[in-house]
Order: sequence, then structure tokens, then C-alpha cells
Amino acid sequence: MESKYLDTYRSWERDPEAFWGEQAAKIHWFRPADKVFDADMGAYGRWFVGAETNTCHNCLDRHVAAGRGEQAAVIYDSPMTGEKRSFTYNEVLTEVTAIAAVLRNHGVTKGDRVIIYMPMIPEAVFSMLACARLGAIHSVVFGGFAAHELATRIDDSKAKVIISASCGLEPGRIVPYKPLLDHAIDMAQVKPEYCFVLQRDQLHAPLRYEHGDVDFAKAVDVERANGTDIRCEPVLATDPLYVLYTSGTTGQPKGVVRDNGGHMVALQWTMENIYGVAPGEVFWAASDIGWVVGHSYIVYGPLLAGNTTVIFEGKPIGTPDAGTFWRVVSEHDVKALFTAPTAFRAIRRDDPDGDHIRRYDLSGLRSLFLAGERADPETIKWAERMLEVPVIDHWWQTETGWPMAANPAGLGLLPVKYGSPTVAMPGYAIDVLDDAGHPVRKGTLGNIVVKLPMPPGCLVTFWNAEERFRSSCLEEFPGYYKTADAGIVDDDGYVFVMARTDDIINCAGHRLSTGAMEEVCAMHPDVAECAVIGIADDLKGQIPCGFLVLKNNVSRDFSVIQREVVQLVRDEIGPVAAFKTVMKVERLPKTRSGKILRGTMQKIADGLPWKMPATIDDPAILDEISTVLRQHGHG
Ligand code: COA
Ligand code: AMP
Repeated sequence: MESKYLDTYRSWERDPEAFWGEQAAKIHWFRPADKVFDADMGAYGRWFVGAETNTCHNCLDRHVAAGRGEQAAVIYDSPMTGEKRSFTYNEVLTEVTAIAAVLRNHGVTKGDRVIIYMPMIPEAVFSMLACARLGAIHSVVFGGFAAHELATRIDDSKAKVIISASCGLEPGRIVPYKPLLDHAIDMAQVKPEYCFVLQRDQLHAPLRYEHGDVDFAKAVDVERANGTDIRCEPVLATDPLYVLYTSGTTGQPKGVVRDNGGHMVALQWTMENIYGVAPGEVFWAASDIGWVVGHSYIVYGPLLAGNTTVIFEGKPIGTPDAGTFWRVVSEHDVKALFTAPTAFRAIRRDDPDGDHIRRYDLSGLRSLFLAGERADPETIKWAERMLEVPVIDHWWQTETGWPMAANPAGLGLLPVKYGSPTVAMPGYAIDVLDDAGHPVRKGTLGNIVVKLPMPPGCLVTFWNAEERFRSSCLEEFPGYYKTADAGIVDDDGYVFVMARTDDIINCAGHRLSTGAMEEVCAMHPDVAECAVIGIADDLKGQIPCGFLVLKNNVSRDFSVIQREVVQLVRDEIGPVAAFKTVMKVERLPKTRSGKILRGTMQKIADGLPWKMPATIDDPAILDEISTVLRQHGHG
């Protein structure tokens, strides 16, 4: 089939408001918009101004009303516990309504913030939808973050309640959540009024009723039995649906604010046109609800489009083996799978010849989507060979909420250029600028930017930090949103995303701030100065690597200090930081104005060609860094 991409993109370019206005007809509005787009509102304009709607209604009630009630909405599959359960749209609606009743009984109303700190279990998704039903704003915190990160989010969002579970399950260990939760609340300035704790069979947590702990399942059981009806609270299309914190360049994460209306319109469009799945089909994003991929494509996108979504509590390998994805795909008849390239690198490492793949009937699978980090062509080609379906690299970020560049399976695939997530999606006019803000020639590396306004579904601001949003995203290149990715757009409009332009790294598909890790390393009493950079890793794409300069008077064994610093980062940020590589150096390379030359250090570590920076203070330090890196097997 000839791709409809170009026609679709042009129709958006000709009249963006008409384009998105037409898509909006697929969403149920309690009150239509006064204006599809109001350029005078917000930091760059707002979509569907004046409209009233409810995201939970669009995900559940309207499908039930349209006769989809007996279709599976959510499939929970946990190789960690061996449990498998399927919930119809009717059943999900019942669960969500009961949770909404519990929240309402505990004082949660429109606009309140609710933190959800849960593993990959159905109740996590139901809780998100229950918040949406009440017009409350959820903020999901990834389970691999430590207490301090949770405390930061409690304070910044001023959460009224927290919904959590007694534990998460990682291969070979149970992760008790309650001590982390209690520690976070002790640390936080803002004290949530209630903590709902779902007791899992693997570990029961002692509840502190005097501190507002509530047994989640018991409270929900009561409301389910009562059959309490909680109607969907009408919210403005421009009201926030959620705040999702993501790594910035400092230890203070940025709360990406997503609205209700634009978000629904954009996600609904992507399910059909990018992912190419029809209502009733099974869509599986093998990610975590703690990340944006989980928000958009485990929860909201598939449910808005009337698909069946899969909640998978496991890993691509080791739970129990590299065939686990293929078991899930074949058992649940998954039509489109979405995951991070790192998951495929892990599967390929364990099952290079695809023996596990051949054990399952994968004839239902139509496409594989990869995002979250650069997809290396070798991994893509291996996946294409093994699965015999299109393997689609697509590029987006927490801020955008949906793909900026993709090969749109629904509109018809375009030719693949390996190393490129293909072309800009409607909504995104992608340009590449030099550091002075001038457009570069096609094929030249520069800063990738998106012409304002951002399309529906993208962030509207940072929570309580509009100025930070403007200064970090909109100011450097006036008229554009700065993606903080560097790359190329070629003559055919194909985008190539090469690297971040800031201190963010992508480790195993997780977005991490090296700046935040530096802040933690610097807390160690023996550390005088430090730098953390991301270095290339065959499996995880990048891993953080710390360089420590110790204080003059320190005589303790470095191996002890190293262990302490690693533990400190694990305790402060969390195991997900994967911070395990630490080196001692005498000095750090700097410019004459004192800026650490992290970019050059990274090139040396990765064995890439590098030039001596003209502004370097003392060139000999780079030799010292090279020597230390070589001693550790890098560079
Ligand atoms: N709760 C608690 N701890 C968690 C966690 C969670 N939800 N998720 C990860 N961790 C821990 C891990 O147990 C590990 O701890 P360890 O240092 O004690 O071993 C640490 O954080 C690092 O985890 P991870 O980076 O996931 O590495 P891994 O070696 O356990 O697994 C992969 C490697 C490739 C299998 C895994 O990273 C993976 O599945 N990646 C795909 C990620 C993804 O889907 N991202 C979403 C974007 S689409
Ligand atoms: P996150 O906000 O966690 O989704 O991370 C977003 C960042 O991940 C982007 O800014 C890119 O640096 C990187 N990224 C995501 N998808 C891709 C991709 N397909 N190719 C290259 N980099 C990607």
C-alpha cells in the first residue's frame, strides 16, 4: 500500500487547527471547545480551549456504552508471581469506580495531587484512571527510585494522598516499598493525609494507622460491595491530567504537565495512524507505568482507542528466560509490541539464534516499535530477521508524550533508513539549528528543535515552574521548543537523533541525570570534586561513570570510598541509576573558565575521535584521564 504519510502531513501543515479539530471528533466532550487553539494562552498556546471532558470517561464509560463492555481491556501477566488475569472493560470500570469512591471518601477532589508509587500491577493502572475520573492529578513515581526522589516529588506536587503497595518484585529479590515510603514521608516537608497500601501476598507491610495508612484492598472491597457510583467529573480540556517527573540537568526533577483534552486527541490519533492497531486488538507496551511510555501506551492510548492493553510484571530476560516476551505475544495475541532497544539487546545476547522465538506462534504480531534511546541498526536488523515483521524505531520524549518522528505503520510504511526514526509526524515541524539559532544545511548536525506551537498532547508547562519551562525549553531558540537532542535531518526529511545536548543519559531505556548523580557524589565527605558522564555500554546503551577527586587529607582506601559512593547514589536516587563504575582521578579537565570538559571525557571513554578543546586549561589532565580509563578497560 502506498503510504498516506505525505498527504496526511501536508494536510496538517496546511491547516493544523482543522486537522486536530477533525481528530477531536473521535473524543467524547461534555462541552465542545470554544476554540481549537488559543495562541494567547499558556507558554505557547493551548488546545481545545473551553471544552469540557473526562479522560476516564473516554477510556472506559464510552466504550462500555458503545457495547465493548465484555471485551478484555487489561491483561495482567506476571512471570514474577505466575499470575495471569484478564479484566473486561466492564470489570475495569467497576474497579476504577470503587477506587474513585475510596479516594473521594478520603477527601480527594478535582485538582488534588495523588502520588502513585506502585509496581506493575493492575491496581496501578486502575488508580491512575480513578484519579482521572475524579479530575484529580496523578503523579506516578517509578518503583526503582529511592526515598529521596519520592520525597522530592511529594514536596513539589504537594500530594494529598499516596497510593502504594507493600512491595515490588525484582528478579531474585522482593523490594519492600513501605520503608521507602515511610522514609520519604519523614523526609518530605509536605505530609500527605493518607497512604493507601495494597498488601501483596509476597510481603505484608506493617501499617501505621495513626499516620493515615489505609489498607487499600479492604477499602476498595467495601466500595465495590456497596456499588457506589462515582460519575466522571467534568474537567476542562486544558486542566492537568497528570504530572510526570523526569530528569532534568540538576537533582530537582521537572514535573511535566499533561492536559486532558489535547492528550486524548493526540493519543487516539497515534493508535490508528502510527501504531496501526484497530479497536479490539491487543497492544503491548513492555515498559513501566513509571515512565511516559507506560502512561501513553500502557494506559491511555490503548484504552482510548478501545484496545486491549497488557500489564507485564517481568523483564525481557531471566523471568524465566529470553522467551518470555514471545510467550506473552503468542498467548495474548499481541498485534503490536513496543519496547526499548535495550530489551532487545538483552534478548539477543541470551538467544542469539532465536531458539526461543521459534518455540512460539507469533503469526499474530504485525510490528515491533522501539523507542526510549537510540536503536542501533544491528539490533534492528537482528529483530527484523528473527521476527519477520517491520521493526520501527521512533523518537520522542517525556515532554512530548507521543512520537515526534516515526515510520507510521497505520498510514503505510515508508522506506527504512537504518539509524533513523524516519520522519516528522503531523504536529511536528522539525528543524535543526546551529548554536546561534540559525538553520543548518540539510544533513548537518545541530540542535533538533520543534517549531511552536507544540501539537496537542505535549507538555504545557512544568508543575509550579513555568519560568523553568520557558527558560529551559523555549528561550534558547525563540519560536521553537528545544528537544535537547542533537541530530540531523537529511534531504528526504529523515531525522537522525545522535546525542543529548545536556547532562541526561539513557541507561537501559531509563532517563537519568548525570548532574543529579554528581550532586550525590559531592555529598560524600571525602570527595573534593567529581564529574559523572555516560559511557557506551553494549547492553544498556550508556551507563554512568563517576570520576572522583578526593580531598588532600584523605588516606582511606579508595575501594571503601568507592563502595560508599555507589551506595550513596543507590540510596539517594535508587537502584535504577545503575551507578556502579567509579574512578579516582587526581584532577578534572576544565576550560579556563572552570567548566568541566565532560563531552571530551566521554569521547575519550568511548574511544571516539576527539579534538583538544581550544579553551582547555591544562591539556595534560586529559592524558591522565585517558590513562585511568584505560586501566578500567575503556577508551
Ligand atoms: N523497582 C525496584 N528496582 C528496580 C526497578 C523497579 N521497578 N526497576 C529496576 N530496578 C533495579 C534493578 O533490580 C537493578 O538493581 P540491581 O542493581 O540491584 O541489579 C537496577 O535497578 C538496574 O535495573 P535495570 O537498569 O533495569 O537493569 P537490569 O540489569 O536489572 O536489567 C534490562 C537490564 C535490559 C533487562 C532491563 O533494563 C530492561 O528490561 N530494560 C528495558 C527498560 C524499559 O522497558 N524502559 C522503558 C522505556 S520504553
Ligand atoms: P524519555 O523522556 O525518558 O522518553 O527520554 C527521551 C530521550 O530519549 C530523548 O530526548 C532522546 O535523547 C532519547 N530517545 C528516545 N527515543 C529515541 C530514539 N528513537 N532514538 C534516539 N534517541 C531516543
